[in-house]
Amino acid sequence: MVKFEHFAVERWMDDYETKSTHNLAETCCASISLDDLQALSEVKGLSLLSHSAKMTYGEIPGLKSLRTNLANLYSSKTSTPLPAENILITPGAIMANHLIFYSLVGPGDHVICHYPTYQQLFDTPRSLGAEVDLWKTSPEKNWSLDIDELEKMIKKNTKLIVINNPQNPTGAVVTKSNLEKLVAIASAHNITVMSDEVYRPIFHGIGPMDKEFPPSILSLGYNNTIAVGSLSKAYSLAGIRTGWIASRSPEMIARIMNARHYTTISVSQLDSAVASYALAAHTIHALIGRNIKLAKNNLEILDKWVSDHREFCDYVKPVAGTTAFIRFKRDSKPLNSETLCRRLVEEEKVLWVPGSHSFGPEFKGFVRIGYVCETEDLKAGLDKASSWLKKEVATLPLDE
Ligand SMILES: Cc1ncc(COP(=O)(O)O)c(C=O)c1O
Repeated sequence: MVKFEHFAVERWMDDYETKSTHNLAETCCASISLDDLQALSEVKGLSLLSHSAKMTYGEIPGLKSLRTNLANLYSSKTSTPLPAENILITPGAIMANHLIFYSLVGPGDHVICHYPTYQQLFDTPRSLGAEVDLWKTSPEKNWSLDIDELEKMIKKNTKLIVINNPQNPTGAVVTKSNLEKLVAIASAHNITVMSDEVYRPIFHGIGPMDKEFPPSILSLGYNNTIAVGSLSKAYSLAGIRTGWIASRSPEMIARIMNARHYTTISVSQLDSAVASYALAAHTIHALIGRNIKLAKNNLEILDKWVSDHREFCDYVKPVAGTTAFIRFKRDSKPLNSETLCRRLVEEEKVLWVPGSHSFGPEFKGFVRIGYVCETEDLKAGLDKASSWLKKEVATLPLDE
């Protein structure tokens, strides 16, 4: 029987999300309503949903207009357009990730996974019997990946390299030059590269004109690559539970499709219609513009907060995504982040995520803060945390 570890971050959210008043643990850009979505569109009065469409299973791999809108996103700025057939729609990125592992890895396979990251990315391959090695990043190296280390980690049976770009929880990116080196190594060993890109395109500390701006893994000229995306994070629509898998390799898509028949059949027509609307040219630019602006503005608030509380905390400032990984300390020693976060939510109803509990025991003192919520909420949550910390920091245990 397949045995899963507890999914720490999801359990934490489940335990506390509804009990908090200021949720600074959320990884989605501030969620929007369908009315908000329509208001962002350039075409006024355009219906989101067809009320006369029969509620059949719909197109099995996913709504064609949605796959076409996604294919257009992957095809801009490259000389090799991605066909819509190379994209499968899934119930969230979480199912996309699951289907990829379920289709591609098993006992006898070796998987290398970027770390820290969303637990699913290394624990699902483990649960399927694969041997997983963590490709670790650290704050001392600005959470960047060391390509020389990758060379040493590769084994004869390495099947898959998994990255999360931009990275949850740190907000760091795998730079363009590192992506190119990674793909060169993977292609020399015929290893598939999977990139969980659910935080694309929320880039706020690095821009498309920057020479290290990271393209999608699909834009590097290597066919054995798979990208995962989602409407939840960058597009503020987690409630429609829509994600996708895209690959340059039709064989890989066919293989994953075979597994998808067993788990999904098709995805909701209603959710897909909303997703297609959000990603259409008439709406996507305003939606992404709103979220990048919100991320930039809120990160400046968080950055000032961190610098005002330098006595208690430090971090590597994120350049992308929606989360920051902040280290809390007293007299330069890490605080026990689980106790800190539990007490903060129980006493002040401000929700953060403890790093050592949810991302790995080595992240002593670390806390993940999701800062792309509504600005007023961020300010109120940080104000409460500030007064509480000043009062209580001496009573918090260290994690040594
Ligand atoms: C890196 C990463 N991948 C996948 C997911 C799941 O996203 P979705 O809501 O699309 O299922 C998350 C959610 O936090 C995530 O952080």
